[in-house]
Amino acid sequence: MNIAVTGTSGWLGSALIEHLRAQGHQVTRLVQRRPDADDEVLWYPELDTAGLAGVQAVVHLVGERVYGKWTEHHREAIRESRVGGTQVLADGLAKMEDGPRTLLCASAIGYFGDRGDEVLTETSPPGKGFLASVHREAEEAADIADRAGLRVAHLRFGIVQSTEGGALAWLLPQFRRGLGIRAGAGHQYVSWVSLPDVVRAIDHVLTTPTLAGPVNVVAPHPVTNREYADILAKVLGRPRFLALTRGLTRRMFGTDVADEIVLASVRAVPEQLLRTGFTFRHPSLEAALRELLD
Ligand SMILES: NC(=O)c1ccc[n+]([C@@H]2O[C@H](COP(=O)([O-])OP(=O)(O)OC[C@H]3O[C@@H](n4cnc5c(N)ncnc54)[C@H](OP(=O)(O)O)[C@@H]3O)[C@@H](O)[C@H]2O)c1
Repeated sequence: MNIAVTGTSGWLGSALIEHLRAQGHQVTRLVQRRPDADDEVLWYPELDTAGLAGVQAVVHLVGERVYGKWTEHHREAIRESRVGGTQVLADGLAKMEDGPRTLLCASAIGYFGDRGDEVLTETSPPGKGFLASVHREAEEAADIADRAGLRVAHLRFGIVQSTEGGALAWLLPQFRRGLGIRAGAGHQYVSWVSLPDVVRAIDHVLTTPTLAGPVNVVAPHPVTNREYADILAKVLGRPRFLALTRGLTRRMFGTDVADEIVLASVRAVPEQLLRTGFTFRHPSLEAALRELLD
């Protein structure tokens, strides 16, 4: 298959390209600057539709990072990179006569907001808050492609686990020094997924024609923040961790990121992936961390 990917300079994009090429697929890199290689095509601020000749599917991974202080400028970048970007891509694809028939867009479990112990499937309604509204709007921005007959899937990624980036890479040095932290009371659910399973799940959605709409890309066994910290400390063979109060967590991450990400409870399950026969290489956190940290 010839698959076009946005956000290729990013962490998930790089891992996905490596995986797709290893599976024998051809990859077209969609870029937001003047293309300077044969496999690059411009997609933003306007999609170069001629450059997509022969492409069957598009995976859209662009998104401004959500960590850091949420100033007005940062909020706008978080929203525009997701909502505006998806609009440009979906509009362009919808207008093509012989264009790609499949569009997979990155979304996130932030769609659900802070939901306590509720088990969240793909049919659960969206939550409240800034991130939840951005992800809902970004998913809606792809509707035009859906109406034009493309198969559109929204990949609601959990917190991706890899030693090369993301939350785990950030936590590791502290846990290794025996200074691992638990945030707040630690009762909030963490919906995690390993990086190898993320790229395998994207491949699965690409090659499963019956899969469309929201797809929770999370491991089948979410854990609480306290369990996460316990398991990571155990795998590293380090002593017990510290507990950050809610107030200290807010001071450390900023109130918005603390309330909407670090302290928010999201207990999402991958109903659509399991229904369509996807098997997780890392269904349990302890086994995943042992393999990733080996
Ligand atoms: N990593 C996780 O744990 C996680 C969890 C849930 C959801 N996700 C979602 O998955 C997607 C990919 O994540 P990632 O970890 O690979 O992110 P990343 O490493 O930060 O890369 C995202 C890519 O988005 C583009 N980008 C960044 N800021 C932008 C801006 N302000 N305007 C336009 N484009 C911008 C860049 O693409 P180019 O320069 O290549 O065009 C960048 O390489 C994102 O949408 C993210 O929200 C990730």
